[in-house]
Amino acid sequence: MVGSPVNRLARLAIARPLEKAGLVCVLAATAALLLLLRLGCPASPKKLWSPSAVVEECDFFDGKWVWDDKYPLYESKDCPFVDAGFRCSENGRPDTAYTKWRWQPSRCDLPRFDAKSMLERLRNKRVVFAGDSIGRNQWESLLCMLSAGVSDKSSIYEVNGNPITKHMGFLIFKFRDYNCTVEYYRSPFLVPQGRAPAGAPKAATSTVRVDVMDWMSDRRRGKWGEADLLIFNSGHWWTYEKTIGSGSYFQEGDEVKMDMTVSDAYGRSIRALFDWLQKEVDTSKTQTIFRTYAPRHFSGGGWNNGGRCQLETLPYVTTPKSVEQWADMLKPVNDVLGNDKRPKFPGLDILNVTQMTAQRKDGHLSVFSSPFRQDQNNGTSETQKLEDCSHWCLPGIPDTWNELLYAVFMRRQMISDQNVPLSA
Ligand SMILES: *[C@@H]1O[C@H](CO)[C@@H](O)[C@H](O)[C@H]1NC(C)=O
Ligand SMILES: *[C@@H]1O[C@H](CO)[C@@H](O)[C@H](O)[C@H]1NC(C)=O
Ligand SMILES: *[C@@H]1O[C@H](CO)[C@@H](O)[C@H](O)[C@H]1NC(C)=O
Repeated sequence: MVGSPVNRLARLAIARPLEKAGLVCVLAATAALLLLLRLGCPASPKKLWSPSAVVEECDFFDGKWVWDDKYPLYESKDCPFVDAGFRCSENGRPDTAYTKWRWQPSRCDLPRFDAKSMLERLRNKRVVFAGDSIGRNQWESLLCMLSAGVSDKSSIYEVNGNPITKHMGFLIFKFRDYNCTVEYYRSPFLVPQGRAPAGAPKAATSTVRVDVMDWMSDRRRGKWGEADLLIFNSGHWWTYEKTIGSGSYFQEGDEVKMDMTVSDAYGRSIRALFDWLQKEVDTSKTQTIFRTYAPRHFSGGGWNNGGRCQLETLPYVTTPKSVEQWADMLKPVNDVLGNDKRPKFPGLDILNVTQMTAQRKDGHLSVFSSPFRQDQNNGTSETQKLEDCSHWCLPGIPDTWNELLYAVFMRRQMISDQNVPLSA
C-alpha cells in the first residue's frame, strides 16, 4: 500500500537532481573531454550508498555472507552493556570465525554503521525495542554498536540504576550527551499474558489476551507509540509448549477460546499490533520496524531435550531455498503487516532477517551462556548442560540485524530530509 508511493515520491525528489548531474556531466564531457578523462564522471551510483541507491529500491535482504577481517564491530569485553549470558568468548567459546561474516546485499552495499551519525540523528529521541529475549539480544547489540561511538562510557546509564540482567520488565539506557534513550521492554507475546478470567475452564491456568497490546505499551507506562524508532519482534513464544501446553489458553475480550490454535492466536496478536499502530502511532514522527522470526538451530533434539549446535563453527554455504518451515511465524506478519517491499502501514519497515539468519547455525550461544567448564560437557544426557541454540553470541548475528536497522533508519532519514510526505 505504502512502500511504492513512498519510493516513487522519493525517486521524484532525489533522482531528479542526480539525473541532472549526470546530464551536466555528459555535456561537460563533450566540452572538456580531456579534463574529464582525468577527473572521471561519477561512478555508477548503483553500487554506492547514496540517495540514488535508496531509490533504486535496493533489496537489502537478498545477498550473501562474506568473510571480512574487519569484523566484528566491537568486542564484548569492551562493552559493559552485554548480558553475561551473551558473552560467548568470555565464557570460553574458543572459535571466533562466526564474528567475521558480513552481510553483503547482491545489488548494493549496506552503509557502514556509523555510531556517531546515528546518535546525532537520535538526539532528543527515543528508541524502543519491544519483544522477546531475542529482541533483547538485538537491543544489547545496538547498545554496544552505538556506545562504540562514545568515549566516556559512564555517560551511558540505565535511568533507574538497574543492572543488565535477565527477567527485567524493562530497561532504559540513556546516552547523556545526546539526550537519547534506547529502551527494551520484555514482551514475549507483544500482547498481555495474565490470570484467566473468573469462570474460565479449569484447564486454563492463565491466558494470553490476543486482541490488545501489552499493557506496557500504553500512554502512562512505556509510551511505545511516542517512540521515534520502534522495533518489534515476536514468534519464539508462540509455540504449543509455551502456551496451551503449559495451561495458557487464548483470550479474546472476556472470552477464553479453548479451541483457538497457536497459529490463529499468533495471527490475531499481529492484527492487534496493526490496529494499535493505526490508533497510537503518528507516522510523521515514528518509524516502526518489525523484525521477522530468527530461526533456531537445534540438531539431534529440541531446546529441552538435548538439541545441539555447539560444534557448529561455519554458516551453511547457501541460503535455504524456502522459508516454508517457518511459515507459521512468517505468514501472519506477511498477511497483516506486509513484507519488506510492501509494508501495509506508513512508516513501517519489515526487517526481513529470517532467510539470512537461517544460514547462521554457527552463531548461537550453545554451551557458552555461562562460564564454560570442560566437565560440564562429559556427563550423561541427564547431567548434560542444555544447549542454547536460540539466542546469539555477542558480538555476532544481531549486529547484522542492526546494520540492516541502520540502513532502513538512514534511508528514512534521507527521505524525510527531502521532505517527502510519508502518507500514501
Ligand atoms: C525476505 O528476503 C528474502 C531474500 O531476498 C526473500 O526471498 C523473501 O521473499 C523476503 N520475505 C519477505 C516477507 O519480504
Ligand atoms: C530530551 O529528550 C526528550 C525526548 O526523549 C525531550 O522530551 C526533552 O525535551 C529533551 N530534553 C532536552 C533538554 O532537549
Ligand atoms: C571431562 O573430560 C575431560 C577430557 O575428556 C577430563 O579431563 C575431565 O577429567 C572430565 N571431567 C569429569 C568430571 O569427568
